[in-house]
Amino acid sequence: MPSFLILNGPNLNLLGTRQPEVYGRTTLADIERMCTDHAVKIGVSVTFAQSNHEGVMIDHIHAARGVHDGIILNAGAYTHTSIALMDAIASVELPAIELHLSNVHAREEFRHKSYISKVCVGIICGFGAYGYVLSMDAMKVRVSD
Ligand code: DQA
Repeated sequence: MPSFLILNGPNLNLLGTRQPEVYGRTTLADIERMCTDHAVKIGVSVTFAQSNHEGVMIDHIHAARGVHDGIILNAGAYTHTSIALMDAIASVELPAIELHLSNVHAREEFRHKSYISKVCVGIICGFGAYGYVLSMDAMKVRVSD
């Protein structure tokens, strides 16, 4: 059974109360439940993680090698700043999907730049919490190729 790491970056632990007009009212715990339910439906297994720390996120990515078949990554603001996360994804040679709840391209200019995109097989953004489910479906297709 394919196994995915779903990794969330800084401030995403505050989903539900953080700028709900931008990110919605769904909490990260709700999203995790959605993902574990969807995993059963599509026959994959998921490990869900969140960290506010860049180095801890990198450790999660390194640990995914040989354990998971793909990484779904909402790196939060580190998307726009982190060469280290980009290098970590490139180093583990696992397919990764860049995910955002909001449509980052319809927002401030600084959110249009992503270091992560360069090393990801695709990007899903703008569909709120549903983007997690979309990413799982997309990753399942990618790893079944
Ligand atoms: C985000 C978009 C980022 O620009 C922002 O810094 C976040 C959340 C999203 O899911 O829409 O923290 O990744």
